Amino acid sequence: MTQFKISPSILSADFARLGEEVRAVDAAGADYIHVDVMDNHFVPNLTIGPLVVAAIKPHTQKPLDVHLMISPVDAIIPEFAKAGANIITIHPEGTIHLDRTVQLIHSLGCKAGVSLNPATPLAVLDYILESIDLVLVMSVNPGFGGQSFIDYSLRKIEAIRKRIDASGKAIELEVDGGIKVNNVRQVADAGADVFVAGSAIYGTADYQATIAAFRAALA
Ligand code: DX5
Ligand code: ZN
Repeated sequence: MTQFKISPSILSADFARLGEEVRAVDAAGADYIHVDVMDNHFVPNLTIGPLVVAAIKPHTQKPLDVHLMISPVDAIIPEFAKAGANIITIHPEGTIHLDRTVQLIHSLGCKAGVSLNPATPLAVLDYILESIDLVLVMSVNPGFGGQSFIDYSLRKIEAIRKRIDASGKAIELEVDGGIKVNNVRQVADAGADVFVAGSAIYGTADYQATIAAFRAALA
């Protein structure tokens, strides 16, 4: 049976109380803590850097699932590893040498993920899939929380699920953007096993009840 994982995105947390907000989703049953790093260049928004990742690290034992929406990405990857990132996910458009970037992430002792924007073709995975630990399908255009799920992402998730199964490797298939209690089952049916949710968790009053509702929808 698939072990589904929930990765709340702190993008929708109260940044003035970030440690507390991380502890709250941890206690509420999060599997990962999703950290959205934006540079106002690769995406039209600016969030946090390695200093903030290091600041939240002592607040949770859960893996920090760090999503780097930055370009160029290589030079700052070691800083995120040092700050305590466990999974580092990058976008192929954020690096010139994708294979080198994946090797760099692994050399720092982190799991490596590759993220595909809604319109990024699957072919980018052709020669790298078997070298990575996670594929992150963006089901919104990256940059902001609270956007609507793009339906054609489901076809993409199905296609990537087939490729992962054919590889025989334990590669996680994570989906990010517009995931809610009422659509998570459909996304799971398409083949995803890790679900990022920002506004759908942090926008509610009771994180534990919300994560329980996600698990019930997935059960
Ligand atoms: C978007 C980010 C997402 C975002 C998801 O660029 O990568 O992780 O926080 O937010 P929701 O769940 O609100 O769509
Ligand atoms: Zn993200």
